[in-house]
Amino acid sequence: MSRRTHYQVHTNRPTTRNLLYGAVILLGLYGLFRTMTPYDVESDEWDSISGLVSPATWQVRAETVKGAFLHAYHGYEKYAAPHDELKPLSNGSSDKFNGWGVTVFDSLDTMLLMGLKEEYVRGLEIVKSVDFTTSTQYVPYFETIIRYLGGLLSAYALSKDSILIQRAEDMVKRLDPAFNTPTGIPFFSVDVENQQGQGAEVGILAEISSLQLEYTYLAKLTGKFEYYNRSATINRLFANTDLKDTGGMLPVSWNLISGKPLDTHLSVGAQADSAHEYLLKLYLLTGKTDRASLEMYNLKSLGIDLQQLGNERLYGYAGKGYRQLADYNLKDIHMWAAEGLAQTCYLTYADSPTGLGPDEMMIKYTNPEGTWTRVDGDWKKKSDQTHLWMEAVDRWKNSGSRGVAPGLAEKKRIISTAEDRWKGVPNGRDYMLRKSGYLLRPETVESLYLLWRITGDSKWRERGWAIFEAIEKTTRTASGYASLYSVETGGPDDSMPSYFLAETLKYLYLMCLDDDPISLDKWVFNTEAHPLPVFDWTPEEIRRFNVAIG
Ligand SMILES: *[C@@H]1O[C@H](CO)[C@@H](O)[C@H](O)[C@H]1NC(C)=O
Ligand SMILES: *[C@@H]1O[C@H](CO)[C@@H](O)[C@H](O)[C@H]1NC(C)=O
Repeated sequence: MSRRTHYQVHTNRPTTRNLLYGAVILLGLYGLFRTMTPYDVESDEWDSISGLVSPATWQVRAETVKGAFLHAYHGYEKYAAPHDELKPLSNGSSDKFNGWGVTVFDSLDTMLLMGLKEEYVRGLEIVKSVDFTTSTQYVPYFETIIRYLGGLLSAYALSKDSILIQRAEDMVKRLDPAFNTPTGIPFFSVDVENQQGQGAEVGILAEISSLQLEYTYLAKLTGKFEYYNRSATINRLFANTDLKDTGGMLPVSWNLISGKPLDTHLSVGAQADSAHEYLLKLYLLTGKTDRASLEMYNLKSLGIDLQQLGNERLYGYAGKGYRQLADYNLKDIHMWAAEGLAQTCYLTYADSPTGLGPDEMMIKYTNPEGTWTRVDGDWKKKSDQTHLWMEAVDRWKNSGSRGVAPGLAEKKRIISTAEDRWKGVPNGRDYMLRKSGYLLRPETVESLYLLWRITGDSKWRERGWAIFEAIEKTTRTASGYASLYSVETGGPDDSMPSYFLAETLKYLYLMCLDDDPISLDKWVFNTEAHPLPVFDWTPEEIRRFNVAIG
């Protein structure tokens, strides 16, 4: 789970996506404050969520989500295919992702999971006919990998249609000039016609390091070292870089020529998220054999050096942190943080007049105890993250309400005026709106889905269902679903991003199934919600690829 919201610093091309997970300290200011009348809410269904919905009701709900997918996809087919995306208000189309039909590629595995054979067969015809040697723009490498390649590989894993691997290889070969750098860190984009990498010398962490799952799985499928090498080169670079200045953690900006970080700026959200995600997920995808990736995740994403555990000679903050850490199970700490963050995200939806959360918000400093502010805010300023983690865990342990994480104690929605929501409410929430749009993004329902699967607590999927109902009510148009300019007013934007079909509707659908076809032990979602199957390396592959195991 994770995301990317960021404006590319070195091009004027906005890349989509956002990390809305929890402690969102966000970049960029949103313009004007709009005056609004307070929204009237008669009944508060958000407070009365119970876990007592029958299995039959969940089946009906799954079918309803499938109906939503068909509505969106049929609208796309009718008015926009084979262009990239549907404009769901004007019934036009857009080509912001190479003009190769991104909505088709992104939707294939969702169709397979939903049992939509006819749509899949029609989609495959488009996939077969796309010409990867020409495009409507320089091909943005990161978005193309996670959407197109992720979509092809996942659809292959579910269907075993070999044409999908063939098309994946056709595309990846055409994108390979992205790696024409001295370091093997990819350029931002590729001129596929002239076969040249394009972009600035500085790369953004999420964009240079969210290819390992796709390339490693492609190497497994084809037996080709060249794909494995693309992934291994990035991880090797990270492993070999001196990161003392950031306490071992991966900074956001990297020089493609020297292979060195530009500065010490860190992020777990915008511009960095999927890089951290992929370190952990590469370990999971390879059947938990790639322990180097797990160690890198602990150190380079969380700032926890496992080798320091049990080292008696540590002193000061770090020593205190590590001595405390030895008392905890790292998994428990993750779950504690995950629940609090997911609850925080859910509340930003529940609080809103439309039931949909804002794209960006700012956490305030007014209420430092028991909020994410201190954990996240301080974490950015100091290099000793372990100590701060431990301080937060200690507060949790000593609070007398074990299990209550920042954000989690708050259960009720707070409805306030738009004015208050922009400014932040004195005795209410500790966040303020920064960008009030809802772009049909998946991150919150993704988190709710994962928590439902992991804990088995139905409250998480009930919350996901409430969000689906809000999507249905506010974003549905005659031909599809439309992003919103504002979760306050619900004003629609003429855009239906492909990830709505790849991710948002897929997670909502799977959440409704009692027998989830995607077991989390056997599948790993790429950052565009394309599930890839967990595999083991054979001894022969270990030797040929020089895979580091154990
Ligand atoms: C778009 O298509 C839908 C469904 O066919 C139709 O009802 C609607 O009027 C169309 N909108 C425009 C602006 O043409
Ligand atoms: C692996 O990738 C690196 C970095 O791009 C490159 O220098 C090297 O030649 C590649 N190795 C092989 C065998 O292709």
